[in-house]
Amino acid sequence: MCTMRYLRSCRFLVILIFTIGISTLIYRLHSINRNLIVHSKNILSNKINKRLHLLRQQFSHVNFSMLLYRSSSNQSQSITYRCREWCGGWGDRLRGITSTFILAVLTQRRFYIDMPYPCELTKFLIPNLYDWQPIEYDKSNRKTLYIEATVDKQLKQKMYEKISSTNFLIEWSQFDDISIETASDYVTPALANKYLQNIVRLLNISSIESTQARLFPLLYEILFRPADHVMTMVDQLLIKLNNNKSVKKQLICLHIRIGKNPTMIYDEIRTYRETMVEDMIQFVDKNLTINNNSMIFITSDSMKVNQDILDRYNTTNQSISIPGPIIHIDRLSSLYSSDERCTGFLKVISDFYVLGECDTLIMARSGFSEWASRRRYLIGQFNQLYLYCRGIYQITGHQWKRPYNIC
Ligand SMILES: *[C@@H]1O[C@H](CO)[C@@H](O)[C@H](O)[C@H]1NC(C)=O
Ligand SMILES: *[C@@H]1O[C@H](CO)[C@@H](O)[C@H](O)[C@H]1NC(C)=O
Ligand SMILES: *[C@@H]1O[C@H](CO)[C@@H](O)[C@H](O)[C@H]1NC(C)=O
Ligand SMILES: *[C@@H]1O[C@H](CO)[C@@H](O)[C@H](O)[C@H]1NC(C)=O
Ligand SMILES: *[C@@H]1O[C@H](CO)[C@@H](O)[C@H](O)[C@H]1NC(C)=O
Ligand SMILES: *[C@@H]1O[C@H](CO)[C@@H](O)[C@H](O)[C@H]1NC(C)=O
Ligand SMILES: *[C@@H]1O[C@H](CO)[C@@H](O)[C@H](O)[C@H]1NC(C)=O
Ligand SMILES: *[C@@H]1O[C@H](CO)[C@@H](O)[C@H](O)[C@H]1NC(C)=O
Repeated sequence: MCTMRYLRSCRFLVILIFTIGISTLIYRLHSINRNLIVHSKNILSNKINKRLHLLRQQFSHVNFSMLLYRSSSNQSQSITYRCREWCGGWGDRLRGITSTFILAVLTQRRFYIDMPYPCELTKFLIPNLYDWQPIEYDKSNRKTLYIEATVDKQLKQKMYEKISSTNFLIEWSQFDDISIETASDYVTPALANKYLQNIVRLLNISSIESTQARLFPLLYEILFRPADHVMTMVDQLLIKLNNNKSVKKQLICLHIRIGKNPTMIYDEIRTYRETMVEDMIQFVDKNLTINNNSMIFITSDSMKVNQDILDRYNTTNQSISIPGPIIHIDRLSSLYSSDERCTGFLKVISDFYVLGECDTLIMARSGFSEWASRRRYLIGQFNQLYLYCRGIYQITGHQWKRPYNIC
């Protein structure tokens, strides 16, 4: 092939092949190296796979092909969970997302999540078994229904009644795309709506499981997987539990949400929480066995509380937390730079994943830690689970009711 005539190009070809060969070799060596690094640290990733495996077993009777069905056409009808401003904290958003997802499943529409606020969600969470990433398509000639039911109390109530007890699918069928802003539970009422029973039956969810609280762990895992940033952040923390090869340390977690404070100047004031910090510390010191085999993890909405807890257990090298600025992802003071919004959101998501791995979890009343506690599948959802509600109470199971409504 390499005649004189083509010598120039031939030489070029030889060099090219040689270069490709060397690059491939370097790349291989590099990825072997990278795999080794990842291998020693993919603690969270392993836990997520294990959890999904358990969930698949527990919900093996559920019609997964229906849950995961997603039309491949980008022209198909859709439902989008939309969060561009005023959509609540991470707890509210998870409620809204899983609600909207179920509505998409029941209407066999494509499901998207549109959340660039306070920083693009896909930097931290990526689709797991269901691809919800929004795509650009030609929206002319398409009819869109906008439902904005997060803030307005009356609208919220109306929407809830509609989902509970009307055949809203008839109205919705006129629209190509439906955009929903909500922080409400529509999972429970939609599954109980008598007009939807023909479709609901296909899902084959048992009646006891037909609530948002019960289905949350499954729906969350179907939708989300942490992006590399989050994996690294959480692994760096979890690896500290394994630094003594002979014993795995117990992870004791505190979520201390006090409400409006110098760190969160725009947050709402929360009552009955004046002595929460002292009460929680006293509980940890008196009721829990704190020894060299336990670590205390803290996440809080107050920089001061966060530091106080870190200092208190730092003398014995037992306190850990995810680094980063403490922000409320919805009540953004204009003081945050766009970089802080992103690192703050990264911390929120990372904290959420850590809370799912706690051997003992003490929560303030908050959707954030409540949803996180539902992910404690590998430990047991109700294993050593406590709630601060004008005092500390142990949550014993799904039926447990907190002693006060406001706390
Ligand atoms: C539906 O779920 C029940 C358990 O709740 C199970 O016995 C049954 O086999 C399931 N049906 C299908 C078609 O998978
Ligand atoms: C699962 O759902 C699909 C609809 O997506 C339906 O065609 C199928 O019959 C269902 N399977 C069972 C066992 O009910
Ligand atoms: C939408 O689908 C059409 C046809 O399948 C394809 O040509 C187009 O690139 C798709 N658009 C996007 C944004 O995926
Ligand atoms: C590891 O834990 C064991 C059992 O508690 C203890 O005896 C040993 O000293 C620990 N090793 C280190 C390096 O801390
Ligand atoms: C923890 O370990 C230190 C030495 O590393 C030891 O002095 C101390 O007594 C241990 N505390 C408990 C509660 O085991
Ligand atoms: C904990 O104490 C060590 C010294 O023992 C110090 O270097 C470190 O900064 C402290 N960490 C925190 C979070 O206060
Ligand atoms: C605290 O932990 C760090 C890293 O986990 C270790 O390097 C250091 O020696 C520990 N200090 C004490 C006092 O145990
Ligand atoms: C904590 O311990 C005290 C006794 O020391 C006990 O009365 C209380 O019930 C315990 N709290 C919980 C939530 O177990």
